[in-house]
Amino acid sequence: MFVVGSLNGDLLVSVERRPEPGETILGGDAQERPGGKGANQAVAAARLGARVAMLGRVGDDLVGRSLRDGLVAEGVDVTYVTTSAEAPTGRAVITVTPDGENAIIVSPGANARLGAGDVDAARDAIVAARAIVLQLEIPLDAVARAVQTAARAQVAVILNLAPIADVPAAVLAGTDVLVVNEHEASALLGASVEGASAAQRRGPELLGRGPRSAVITLGAAGAVAVGEDGSAEHVPAPRVRAIDTTGAGDAFVGALAAELVAGRRLAEATGFAARAGAAATLAAGAQSALPGREDLEKLFVA
Ligand code: RIB
Repeated sequence: MFVVGSLNGDLLVSVERRPEPGETILGGDAQERPGGKGANQAVAAARLGARVAMLGRVGDDLVGRSLRDGLVAEGVDVTYVTTSAEAPTGRAVITVTPDGENAIIVSPGANARLGAGDVDAARDAIVAARAIVLQLEIPLDAVARAVQTAARAQVAVILNLAPIADVPAAVLAGTDVLVVNEHEASALLGASVEGASAAQRRGPELLGRGPRSAVITLGAAGAVAVGEDGSAEHVPAPRVRAIDTTGAGDAFVGALAAELVAGRRLAEATGFAARAGAAATLAAGAQSALPGREDLEKLFVA
């Protein structure tokens, strides 16, 4: 599979609570971890056995070199991860509260310098892939060109609409599997999609926006898979005691993509992805918490 997306150096700090405007609070020891939704999804799929290549951009700095080396160590092909001379590597400042919830500020840096020309340079790899996987931490023109390139070559497009942005109708129309959380689904539909029953009821409306199928992630409540026929199936997630939810959505998307590429049905792949997402909340950080197949087998006896 071919992932088109961001790479960030994450700076994690645990806090008892988030500061009010104008307030300074003290947190735990800072931890530097590899992140970025694109790189996280690439590593999530690779750890589950998928063959993965990535298109992205880092800065000419230590963080960028370490992110690229990290991908190589995970078996991800980084031929199309290029270096920007104009901007530093993307960074994310992440606070995590005792309930495991995170709040993230992303400084896109080099990710914002990825363009349609970079996608064109990777055209051969994109059209040879079984699926491409995208998120929205890179410029929309790069996303749009990648979707167009893949769709024309009948390569499956898996689009994670995170962080939420207004995407052109053609992007949604070129998407085979749209992955959104409740907030993103609500923004797209202009109506509240909170909880499993609302997601089941409203999920099929997402297909009216263009994608062939969709998955709405519901955090601890699992996910709803909306098939091409408009059926909406709720798939629960295993109960876990979350330590840090950072990257759980990326674990879900990477696992979903790995399973779809391996030929699983959408609902089945969604169930597997929900287990991967839950497992990713059991340790701090994004990539550092992504599970392999053995971890999932040990954690959740099927
Ligand atoms: O989804 C989690 C990711 O969001 C973090 O790794 C951070 O880099 C931001 O991109």
